Amino acid sequence: MCQKTLNIVFVFLACVVAAAANADDTNAVARGYRLLTETPLLPSDFHQRVVDDVWQSWPEPLRSKAEKATPEQRRKMTFSRYGLTTRPGDDSGKPLQYVVGDDGQWTMNCFSCHGGSVYGKPTPGAPNNRFALQTMTEEVRRTKFRIGEPMSRMDLGSLFIPLGTTHGTTNAVVFGMGLMHQRDEQLNVVNRPPVPLMHHDMDAPPWWHFYKRPYIYIDGFAQKGHRGLMQFMLVPENGPEFFREHEEDFRDVYAYMSSLRPPKYDGAIDDELVSVGKGVFDRNCAECHGTYGDDSEYPNRRIPLDEIGTDPVRAEALTEAGRAKYARSWFAHAGEDDPQQTIVELDGYVAPPLDGVWASAPYFHNGSVPTLWHVLHPSERPTVWRPVSEAMDEQRLGLTIELAEKMPVTEPDVAIRRSYFDTRRFGKSNSGHTYPDELSEAEKAAVLEYLKTL
Ligand code: HEC
Ligand code: HEC
Repeated sequence: MCQKTLNIVFVFLACVVAAAANADDTNAVARGYRLLTETPLLPSDFHQRVVDDVWQSWPEPLRSKAEKATPEQRRKMTFSRYGLTTRPGDDSGKPLQYVVGDDGQWTMNCFSCHGGSVYGKPTPGAPNNRFALQTMTEEVRRTKFRIGEPMSRMDLGSLFIPLGTTHGTTNAVVFGMGLMHQRDEQLNVVNRPPVPLMHHDMDAPPWWHFYKRPYIYIDGFAQKGHRGLMQFMLVPENGPEFFREHEEDFRDVYAYMSSLRPPKYDGAIDDELVSVGKGVFDRNCAECHGTYGDDSEYPNRRIPLDEIGTDPVRAEALTEAGRAKYARSWFAHAGEDDPQQTIVELDGYVAPPLDGVWASAPYFHNGSVPTLWHVLHPSERPTVWRPVSEAMDEQRLGLTIELAEKMPVTEPDVAIRRSYFDTRRFGKSNSGHTYPDELSEAEKAAVLEYLKTL
């Protein structure tokens, strides 16, 4: 056989192998999404009966409105009150944020914090900036009490650990630390007296950065790996064997998360302003946030706390001892072919990639700044604010908000009280990141336009 034919055969074989590998990746991505939406990985939270009845624990006038509503309208009201969305391309009516089994049991999944609505459009991987975990848990607990259903771990745990004081943010890092404290390095459950924890709320980051980031979390302490994704399931019911059994599944979740890309901005864009803005960005912001477009680069740069000046509580809450423990644990050892690194001694926050940043309001790790315009105007950031509609503020690129003098402490509806963000509270400061002060007003307008295109 002549060399040419052989070459063609090789090329053909190489193509077949590559196509098979691609199909494998695609399957892994689909399996990852299916696992998250269809397989309960925690003890279940509540039954459909509770969901159908929860409106009875709402304050007036909402309760009367729900009473008169059709079941479908009531379902929509329930989703809206707790920050739940439907699943794209699926008309089952199931929420993205919970697995709903054939037995009617609802179980929280990763999308409760990492899947939300981008200005009205359900988007897996977008931060859920409306998730009302604390409010939902309290009203579910009251409903269960009324109709005689058993309490879950979340119902009881939330009596001791705050779940989140502002809707759209949660105390997730502290849940993780509290649960990790009750394990040894091989994830066996151990009984230890509780440690003091620094409760604070965070805004979840979008998952569409995952493929770019070598290290994850706002301080970038943990190298990414499939095992590290399993921390959220550390409830005592899941013993060490649970983690080993589900390890392969989480390679699929890893593939799914790595496949995500940000949504595209579909409003008006001024191309001329964008090209000015790109220049301003590349000179003033790219050293930390990287470059975008054809040969994009992400520097993964960590900035010390006293330089960045954003809220320090998250950095202080996760102690060196806590990080060292993670470094020795099963999560940070993904096997021979997948060595993991953990940075134990560190200070500061890593500048996140800004891909799709228009779609992930509010801003900074604690969600304290409602729009990109406010990120660019440090002295005009609002002190107390709340979102008032699902529509985007297209001028300022972010949440449509109203301002308040102070928290409405006498408001009878907790859901309304918890929709206010008070930047004077612990862990909620909106200070710092004053780099935009170097820019003129015209340069800021150009950068704002450029940010639409990332
Ligand atoms: C209760 C809310 C909540 C749930 C549920 C949750 N997360 Fe998170 N997640 C967060 C918050 C808040 C952060 C930011 C933590 C930080 O930076 O310190 C985060 C950070 C992450 C990051 C780092 C991303 C980055 O760019 O730095 C990954 C990866 C992640 N979560 C994966 C998961 C997976 C997988 C699940 C489900 C098994 C899950 N999370 C469930 C709230 C949550
Ligand atoms: C010296 C490094 C540095 C420079 C320069 C810098 N940033 Fe940042 N930026 C950061 C860090 C670190 C954070 C994370 C702060 C936090 O969440 O506490 C951040 C956060 C942000 C965020 C919020 C992202 C989110 O998802 O919450 C935006 C938007 C942003 N920067 C835009 C800019 C723009 C625009 C410029 C240029 C005018 C700029 N930054 C210059 C380090 C920098």
